[in-house]
Amino acid sequence: MLGRLNHVAIAVPDMAAASTIYRNMLGARLTDPQALPEHGVTVVFIDVGNTKIELLEPLGADSPIAAFLVKNPAGGMHHVCYEVPDILAARDRLKDQGARILGDGEPKIGAHGKPVLFLHPKDFNGTLIELEQE
Ligand code: CO
Repeated sequence: MLGRLNHVAIAVPDMAAASTIYRNMLGARLTDPQALPEHGVTVVFIDVGNTKIELLEPLGADSPIAAFLVKNPAGGMHHVCYEVPDILAARDRLKDQGARILGDGEPKIGAHGKPVLFLHPKDFNGTLIELEQE
């Protein structure tokens, strides 16, 4: 079921400052910031060849990463995203085994225009997992 690692997401309190660090200190090439109001975040992607890094900055009053940044004011690793060949089949298999799907359990369209779901971190060793349709 589990496919390749699509990205590792890092929550940042200040996208401009984080982008400068990645661009200037690490020599990374960054995409332009993309606002995703339905997800409550602004994202920037960094292609590192075998996967991507996703920088996440809160967008709007009830951003899902706001509480994370209160606990981790300097930012921190927020989630990992794995590709799956069939997101509905993956969801049903996980639910059958007792895993909790966040939100209403229905896939939303993510930053790459593909359906995504998030799995409860308490069911996965404290790691928030995003699944993205291949
Ligand atoms: Co993500």
